[in-house]
Amino acid sequence: TIVAKVDLRQASSAEVIQTAAKILQEGGLVAFPTETVYGLGGNGLDSAACEKIYLAKGRPSDNPLILHISEIEELDRIVAEVSPQARALMDAFWPGPLTMIFKKKDIVPAKATGGLDTVAVRFPNHPVARAIIRAAGLPIAAPSANSSGKPSPTRASHVEYDLNGKIDMIVDGGAAEWGLESTIVDVSDEIPMILRPGAVTKEMIEAVVGQVEIDPAILHKPTADFKPKAPGMKYTHYSPKAEVFLVKGEQTAVAERINALAAAERAAGKKVGVMATEETKTLYHADIILSLGSRAKPEEIGANLFKTLRKFDFLGVDVVYSEVFSEKGEGMAIMNRLNKAAGYRVLEAE
Ligand code: TXA
Ligand code: MG
Repeated sequence: TIVAKVDLRQASSAEVIQTAAKILQEGGLVAFPTETVYGLGGNGLDSAACEKIYLAKGRPSDNPLILHISEIEELDRIVAEVSPQARALMDAFWPGPLTMIFKKKDIVPAKATGGLDTVAVRFPNHPVARAIIRAAGLPIAAPSANSSGKPSPTRASHVEYDLNGKIDMIVDGGAAEWGLESTIVDVSDEIPMILRPGAVTKEMIEAVVGQVEIDPAILHKPTADFKPKAPGMKYTHYSPKAEVFLVKGEQTAVAERINALAAAERAAGKKVGVMATEETKTLYHADIILSLGSRAKPEEIGANLFKTLRKFDFLGVDVVYSEVFSEKGEGMAIMNRLNKAAGYRVLEAE
């Protein structure tokens, strides 16, 4: 695996972009930064390249990929129908952290869509992602560049840890700014539906198209009755090796409950971590206490979440207790990923 740093302000970056594009055109795999998380790119029109992506990640084959474009005009090549709502959302949020689900054209192989007749498309806003896609001249299939089941990578080092030796190239463009995967909205039916919450919030989408539904499975533990419409959302994702528990309630009660649980686990010989915030980190007693950032800055919590989950693994922690956050605005994305990391285990402090 080639690992190459890129800084678009430097002339040397042109060579890195060209190498990446050439690998993609020849059917190889390149991980690159986007403003959400790092993606593992391959030619989205080539079944063999898509197959390699599934293999490298260990991803279940029924979990479709997102095709990434670098110009709105490229949409026509892969999508059969664009509704007025989709057009409005595109005008408002592309390029950016929004993925939309459309009816697909035949040119998109079944391998890319897990056999579905729809295709997910995103136009990212990261300059490195855009430069690579433009230079390749292809729609680039790119799931998050982690091993399946692990937290999504927000740094090139995370990609290296999971996929070194399994892919052709990693383009290191620094930390992903937002840190959680894009919002997914299905625009293939009349009323748009959010299938995965992200940086583009329900409130922001409503302001553009009026009505938007939310896949009920986002807010609940997926069951046979609550089957998520995005196939990938049914898996316990984002989970570190440690067992994660969320603890909910008033701040002092949460700290007391977590400290009691931590003491008991430590007495049993477990290494215990606490996922706290700048405001609360001094309240805890455990082996490792990591702060996600300030409660007053949800964007900071979102940007640090996956990195922090990976750090607990790296430090060999067995059990992690985490505080919870508001589900308003971008908080919905944070709580969705936290709930999945915890396998929906929530304890009430009193
Ligand atoms: O921010 C992101 O979206 C990142 C960056 C790299 O762009 N990519 C990403 O891809 O998160 P991935 O593969 O980790 O997540 C794609 C999600 C999965 O839950 C998948 O099931 C869903 O999108 N998806 C893809 N195609 C779909 C379709 N046709 N219908 C419904 N869900 C779809
Ligand atoms: Mg993923």
